[in-house]
Amino acid sequence: MSASIEDRAGLDFVLALRRAWATELYPQLKREFERSGAGGDAATIAPTVHRLPAYPWFAWLERGSQKMLWRAVADAIEHQGASLPPRGNGPATVELDPDFRLPGWYTEWDIHVQPGGVWSSAEAALVYELGARLVMLGDNDDYKFHRLFTETAIPARDYRRIVDFGCGFGKSAWPLKQRFAAAEVIGVDLAAPCLELAAARTNARGVDVRYRQADATATGLEDNSADLVTSTMFVHEIPAQILPSVFTEASRLLAPGGVLRFLDFQFTGDPFRDLAMIEHGARNNEPFLPTMMREDLAAMARRAGFAQARWVAFDERGQGRLPELDWPSRPEWHFPWAVLEAEMPSPAQAGETE
Ligand SMILES: C[S@@+](CC[C@H](N)C(=O)[O-])C[C@H]1O[C@@H](n2cnc3c(N)ncnc32)[C@H](O)[C@@H]1O
Repeated sequence: MSASIEDRAGLDFVLALRRAWATELYPQLKREFERSGAGGDAATIAPTVHRLPAYPWFAWLERGSQKMLWRAVADAIEHQGASLPPRGNGPATVELDPDFRLPGWYTEWDIHVQPGGVWSSAEAALVYELGARLVMLGDNDDYKFHRLFTETAIPARDYRRIVDFGCGFGKSAWPLKQRFAAAEVIGVDLAAPCLELAAARTNARGVDVRYRQADATATGLEDNSADLVTSTMFVHEIPAQILPSVFTEASRLLAPGGVLRFLDFQFTGDPFRDLAMIEHGARNNEPFLPTMMREDLAAMARRAGFAQARWVAFDERGQGRLPELDWPSRPEWHFPWAVLEAEMPSPAQAGETE
């Protein structure tokens, strides 16, 4: 983006602040915790962690820098007079529903502390797009994270139709089309402004994705019409009571033998890190993040008819999908990325005869 020198300075400052929070404050707090000798699970250690000297700094800066981030990003977008780029004549399409009603649980929180969320205006989508780069500490500027997911976590097959739940502004959907060029790729999201931006960004890459405004629990797409259902950073935005219907919808969409791959977070079993994730949900206005992490999504997938459901770890700065739930060890704050893998049984696997 071409920001003014003042806006650039504001963005750089927030990025530096967030890097210092991740690479200095988090390890400092962890050292203090280790010196305390406290043990137990995330809930048991919480009172000890809350009394550590670095904790107020850590907790305040996590939320305070996130608020500063959106301010800096919104200013930069506003000063540019930015509006949604034209969709152009490229192949990507958007199916909007003029009567679509967003669910209350979706609109009543400013998710990620972004004022107005990602759905409230055209600017909101642009703000989200730029903010997402800073949230990833500049690590995902060229969207390598999403390419890594597509390249390492998705089995190489000849897919006919791929459905990406919660596609946002498209950065999870267009790499799928780039890798599986023969497949029809459909990105589904609640937020109309994000879908418009997704189509423009996808067209700029010259690829063809069908963007559709729908709830991932009721996509309106045909039964058994897909052979891959994906999502990235999506299930932690869904209330626990709605999560089962995400799997029911995925199993309805998938033909026998179809594949499900969801990239999200899991507890690591390290109580300090798990507590940091639970509190990240609170400080980052992601109320459904801890509730999702407490659910057994693999069991939920099995109840919806999936087989071979399991989580594996995902190393976003290394090789991507890892063969097991082995967590990459790093001193700085980083998300416990993991991939939920599951398959719809083929008739043979289900013990059926042709
Ligand atoms: C954190 S963003 C992730 C976007 C994209 N997958 C990525 O990796 O950048 C989560 C997206 O899920 C969408 N979303 C949340 N709940 C949804 C639902 N029930 N159905 C469809 N989309 C939903 C939000 O609008 C948002 O765009």
